[in-house]
Amino acid sequence: MNISFKKLHPTFAAEVSSIDLREINDEVTLSHLRKAMSEYGVLVFKAQQLSLQDQLDFAKRLDGVLHTKTSNSVLSKNRFGNDALTDISNVAQDGEIMAADDRRRMNNISNRIWHTDASFENPPGRYSMLCARTIPSVRADTEFADMRTAYDFLDDQMKVTIENLHVHHSIVYSRHTMGFDFSLEERAKLPGANHPLVRTVENSSKKALYLASHADHVVEWPIPEGRLLLRDLIEHATKPQFVYSHEWTVGDLVIWDNRTTMHRGRPFDDKTHKRELTRVTTLDIPRH
Ligand SMILES: [Fe+2]
Repeated sequence: MNISFKKLHPTFAAEVSSIDLREINDEVTLSHLRKAMSEYGVLVFKAQQLSLQDQLDFAKRLDGVLHTKTSNSVLSKNRFGNDALTDISNVAQDGEIMAADDRRRMNNISNRIWHTDASFENPPGRYSMLCARTIPSVRADTEFADMRTAYDFLDDQMKVTIENLHVHHSIVYSRHTMGFDFSLEERAKLPGANHPLVRTVENSSKKALYLASHADHVVEWPIPEGRLLLRDLIEHATKPQFVYSHEWTVGDLVIWDNRTTMHRGRPFDDKTHKRELTRVTTLDIPRH
């Protein structure tokens, strides 16, 4: 199949030419898309007509094992009855906008700080695939930061300093910084995970910073020094020059590589406007 890519930002992110992902199931095309993910980090597919099952099925075809132990799944069963489908919405079981103090809303609102999905798991998240189903009339963009170009722009001394460091990622930590606390029972299900601060992905030799709001501390350093380093790196990596902002249209499916990008949702009046997206995230398990 002839697929072309239109760059959306000078260094990463591309829109894919018109294809129907429900029909993509041959290994040649899937492999082509995986290579494009390694190159661009973010791919935008327009005008998709994916049912919830179609979205799950395509995610499995593209990338295998699905992430199910999300923070939402720890809080409650979602309205789709399937923990592999993360409900990125402000809508409750009854289809109405959630109450302002709903715990799921308080948890989800923290997705507005820069993060990468499931970095607090081991294996962590690989691809996330977010499908727009209801989009408000006001802008409610998702921003992506290119963590490989951000790495390239570090000075040589910093690259040497961070080369072999590891970071402990914890969603209990990141939510606490936003004033949301899990119960002791919930915390036991979210122990966190350690990952290298600098990493590469398949089909690319470029190094990426692996950061997130979940980045709690640098394993090899005292906690204050490590947290200062992480804050400096996140500030650097999210400068406007490294950021692509996606304005959503119903039917968009955006896939990003959590290992080479960070992302955040931008604020909108979520007590007035409904916004419903569904996300499937795969785990970073080696492919055979
Ligand atoms: Fe996210």
